[in-house]
Formats: sequence, C-alpha cells, structure tokens
Amino acid sequence: MKIGVIHKYRKHLPVTDKTPVITLQEGSTPLLRVENIEKEFNFPFQLYLKYEGVNPTGSFKDRGMTVAISKAVEKGCEYVICASTGNTSASAAAYASKAKLKALVVIPEGSIALGKLSQAMIHGAKVVAIKGNFDDALKIVREICEKYPVELVNSLNPNRIEGQKTAAFEIVDALGRAPDFHAMPVGNAGNITAYWKGYKEYCAIRPVMMGFQAAKSAPIVEGHPIKKPETIATAIRIGNPASWKKAEAARDESGGLIDKVTDDEILSAYKALAELEGIFVEPASASTLAGLIKYNKKSYFKKATKETIVVGVLTGHGLKDPDRAIKSCFQPEIVEATTAKVCRAFDL
Ligand code: F0G
Repeated sequence: MKIGVIHKYRKHLPVTDKTPVITLQEGSTPLLRVENIEKEFNFPFQLYLKYEGVNPTGSFKDRGMTVAISKAVEKGCEYVICASTGNTSASAAAYASKAKLKALVVIPEGSIALGKLSQAMIHGAKVVAIKGNFDDALKIVREICEKYPVELVNSLNPNRIEGQKTAAFEIVDALGRAPDFHAMPVGNAGNITAYWKGYKEYCAIRPVMMGFQAAKSAPIVEGHPIKKPETIATAIRIGNPASWKKAEAARDESGGLIDKVTDDEILSAYKALAELEGIFVEPASASTLAGLIKYNKKSYFKKATKETIVVGVLTGHGLKDPDRAIKSCFQPEIVEATTAKVCRAFDL
C-alpha cells in the first residue's frame, strides 16, 4: 500500500504527533532489474534502477517536499520559496497547494523543461523567470529568505534531505541489504547527500557512491565553480552546487567517485532506457546509466560478478521534457488518410 514516506519511515524523520502530514503518497517507487541493459552493455553485475519518475509530481523531490512542507505548516509559515531547474518548483507548488501555502518560484529563463514549468504554473505558484542561471536564482532566494518570513524549500533546507534519504531505506528494504555500488546524477548535490545519509543511518555495510555531473556543468569534477554551465540535461545545469562539500564527503567516505558524462553519452543512455527497457526518463536521470557505461568500459567493475548489485537512480520522468524526446527521434511520417498509404509507410 502507498502511504507516503512520513508514515512509512516516521521514526527516522524529524516529525512528531504535532506535525501535520502533507502527503501526496510519494515514495514506494519501483526498483527495476534491467536485464536487457545488463546484456546490451556487458555489465558483469546485476543492475537495478530506482524509478523516481513515478512519484506524484514525477521526480524524487516529492520525498523531501512532503517533509519540508509539513514542517513549514507546523511552523505556521505562509509562504515557501525555491530556486529551481524545474522539478523542485513543480514539487513545491504541488505540496504547497495541498497545504494551502503560497509558493514563490525563481527559475532561469529559457532553460526549464516545459512539463516542469507547466506543473509550477497549474498548481498556482507565483513564478518569476530571471535572466540568469540556477546559481543566480538560488542566491536571490537565499537573500529573500534573510529579509522576509518565507521558508526556503531548496535542499539547503535539512527537512528536504531528511525526506529524500528514505529512498536509500527503500532500496535496502527491497534488496535485503545495501547495494555494492550506487550511481546517480549530481546537480545541486542535495540528493547524493541524502542517499549517503540514508545508507549511513540504515546499514553498517554501505555502497560505493558514484555521482555523475554533465560534462559542461561539472564543478565538483573540475574543482571550481562553472560560471556558465551548459547541458541538455537542464535539471543538472548547475555551476556552483549548494551541497558541494557534502557530496565530496559522500564520495570520500564511501570510497567512491564523482565524474562527468557528455551530453552525447547522456542522450544515448536516455534512448537505451526507453528502447531496451520501456523506461522513459528525463535526460538528467540518464546520466546515471551513462556513467555506469563509461566506468564499465574503463574496467572499473572488473572484480564484479553476478552477485554484485549496482543500483542506479532515475530521478525524473521523461514526460517532464517532451521536447527533448521528440528532438531525439525520427519524426512521424505524414501520409494521406488511406489504409494503403499507411501500410506503405509501415513497409507492410
Ligand atoms: N535529477 C533531476 C531530475 C533533478 O531535477 C535534479 C535536481 C537532479 C537530478 C540533481 O539532484 O540537485 O540534489 O544533486 N533538480 C533541482 C531542481 C536542482 O531545481 O529541480 P541534486
């Protein structure tokens, strides 16, 4: 039964009997074994993908938002605010409407996938687009929070991290143990922080953490902020991640790595997931598989066997960014409305 992450993992979360629970029944997402992909890419290990795109607003953000919004209501807040590459704003807007709070959203103009923008708008958030990038937007909302009584619901809010760590709990509950390796995208770096916290709290034997940034938006890999981050994976088009140090701690404490994958690598993993497994994700999510393919080619997994378990996180649904899907495929042929013409087009 779907009950939402606060009810499911109450004792691990910063809630009391006095906390009103604002939930859309997030969490309990599928953990899919992807054997077609294992075969296609000669993976020596078992690969499971945690499909977070089937959360209520289509991304992992809902796990953190249920806690952040519930705590905001408990505190008596009226307004919540976030900067976003799209998914945080979609989730914040939806949970705020459920809680009867007002949501304020700052986004980088022109680089938000259409599905996400439509979500923030339809849930009634006040959306302002800036002539700048996500990093500029985050700086602005932090400044607003210092001056006005509005609650920040970006992942700098510790309640977001608390909620998001429940995905690690679900993986361990499903497998009966932690995976050997855990791969995921890294943008503002809140989610890798949350998973690592979750694994540390839940089990003694923990995975090696593998984080992947987009090549031209890879500040942690390059070792310095990127002024003008670029990538088709707009969700992770971030040049100065707020949780930079915590992501490095997750990497170092787990003996893992944070590396980059190119847009071409992301797009080919994006298509492989859709064509080989029936899983439609947004491009940022495909960086997980792109990274695993890259590292398998480098023989990083040379000691792995079919007993080795790798879990990858697919952070957002493909319908978030329909433009990218359409651009990545052959366009439908347009023919006259006769059976003969349609058959000809199908080569039947
Ligand atoms: N994947 C998707 C689909 C995302 O939307 C994000 C972040 C990430 C991965 C990276 O997670 O930031 O915790 O490292 N999206 C944020 C947003 C920035 O505003 O929606 P992270």
